[in-house]
Amino acid sequence: FSKIGIVGAMVEEIELLHKHTDVTNTIHKAGITFYEGRFHDKDIIFGKSGVGKVNAAVCTQVLIDMGVDCILFTGVAGALDPELEIGDIVISTSCLQHDMDVTPLGFARGVIPFQEVSDFNADPRLIELAEQASERLFNGRYRKGKILSGDQFVASRETVKELYEDLGGTCTEMEGAALAQVCAMNGIPYVVIRSMSDKADGSAHVNFEEFTVKASDHSYRIIDDIISRM
Ligand code: ADE
Repeated sequence: FSKIGIVGAMVEEIELLHKHTDVTNTIHKAGITFYEGRFHDKDIIFGKSGVGKVNAAVCTQVLIDMGVDCILFTGVAGALDPELEIGDIVISTSCLQHDMDVTPLGFARGVIPFQEVSDFNADPRLIELAEQASERLFNGRYRKGKILSGDQFVASRETVKELYEDLGGTCTEMEGAALAQVCAMNGIPYVVIRSMSDKADGSAHVNFEEFTVKASDHSYRIIDDIISRM
């Protein structure tokens, strides 16, 4: 990989990276600020997409147009797999939009009509790098799995059950599958790495706020470890 794109949805998710990067150029595009620079002797560009699928999609396309040849997304998510604890890491094997719903026309939930793929695979090499980083940094407190994205902050047990049992999601967030789809449309490898800020249940909002600081630290350490070995 010769130019690495990195995306976080919130400022906390990329601020440590900003602090440790030799920023050589700042670019404003589509309302997003991108920082270009050197990190572990690699060329990187990173930016804060903002929350939700449209923000993530636009940010991803702009990064690709700026010449990145892979994209890492880092941030927090709500756990769906009951074995996950707050603080654990999830690495995407694939990403699917759980709010894509054309069931009245006979399409299964999550399926984007009239196209071959709706569950977008992450890149095996990037998954492997993320797995090695998580193994080393978090004593194996990580899981690989399908990440479900939608323009919804999930905060109920029923929705968790549905997303876990019906769609097979490991965790839920609001950007990954949009980024994944744009990457697939452009033939660019990606991986999404999330630390669990909450269990997407009734206490999600409380855990979410408490955990954001710790999660930013996780995000930075994983990215740091991955890029140092690229
Ligand atoms: N990001 C972090 N927690 C989340 C949740 N419960 N739902 C959606 N996105 C999230």
